[in-house]
Amino acid sequence: MTAETSYRTALITGASRGLGLALARTLARDGWTLIIDARGEEALESARAELSRYTRVIAIPGDVTEQEHREDLAGAARKAGGVDALVNNASNLGPSPQPGLLDYPLDVFEQVYRTNVVAPLALIQALNNELKPQARIINVTSDAAVEPYEGWGGYGSSKAALEQLSNILAAENPGLRVYRVDPGDMRTQMHQEAFPEEDISDRPLPEESVPGFIELFTGDLPSGRYEARALAARVGTATADS
Ligand SMILES: NC(=O)c1ccc[n+]([C@@H]2O[C@H](COP(=O)([O-])OP(=O)(O)OC[C@H]3O[C@@H](n4cnc5c(N)ncnc54)[C@H](OP(=O)(O)O)[C@@H]3O)[C@@H](O)[C@H]2O)c1
Repeated sequence: MTAETSYRTALITGASRGLGLALARTLARDGWTLIIDARGEEALESARAELSRYTRVIAIPGDVTEQEHREDLAGAARKAGGVDALVNNASNLGPSPQPGLLDYPLDVFEQVYRTNVVAPLALIQALNNELKPQARIINVTSDAAVEPYEGWGGYGSSKAALEQLSNILAAENPGLRVYRVDPGDMRTQMHQEAFPEEDISDRPLPEESVPGFIELFTGDLPSGRYEARALAARVGTATADS
């Protein structure tokens, strides 16, 4: 733990596996206090137990779409003395396999938007008074937010909404850093659900996307859209050049 990070706190949604857990592991090893959630209690407890070997961890099981759960997260942030970073990582892919838009069940479409768009904004609102000066809001999006992949109309359009929401939030709040971040394809449960018939063993592990995120947690980059792995490569090159 360095003196610089010993007092920092991050709230990461969906940190029981995949990218959220990979980010939490790296921050935990650098001494950040963590507030984490996920719906599945067993996996969340297992993550808490592992991360607690390195740092203080507050694990709150629950669903980001529920207001009471978000209030619990905000209460934990208050007790921790505020947060330096909020990562809206928890996400809903929708049905697997994903249907075309003309066949998309609208009740599920609404649920995808509730998780991927409404809940991140609601959590930002709930945490508004708990964001420390210069806090970072990191909204995890996707290349599906900008590419017209067939079958990705529900999830992809929700991530596009999250991107523009982030863009406008940044314009409205110059004191905050608001990052919208495409982590790239990652070998995770969500990715397997997106490609149910495919062997995804060639996809990179989420750990490979973490260094780019760390640059956003600790660096001084302006609000904007970033691709995590390209960012890590750029920073690595700059470091090598300097
Ligand atoms: N994997 C990829 O290739 C890829 C590519 C581009 C973008 N992304 C984005 O990267 C982020 C992480 O994805 P991942 O692949 O790591 O997913 P993942 O392995 O499926 O993990 C998702 C995490 O979020 C939690 N979660 C899901 N819904 C939740 C809810 N309503 N409330 C609270 N927690 C919830 C899950 O636990 P529970 O299910 O127990 O709640 C789990 O901890 C997502 O925003 C995703 O859209 C992923």
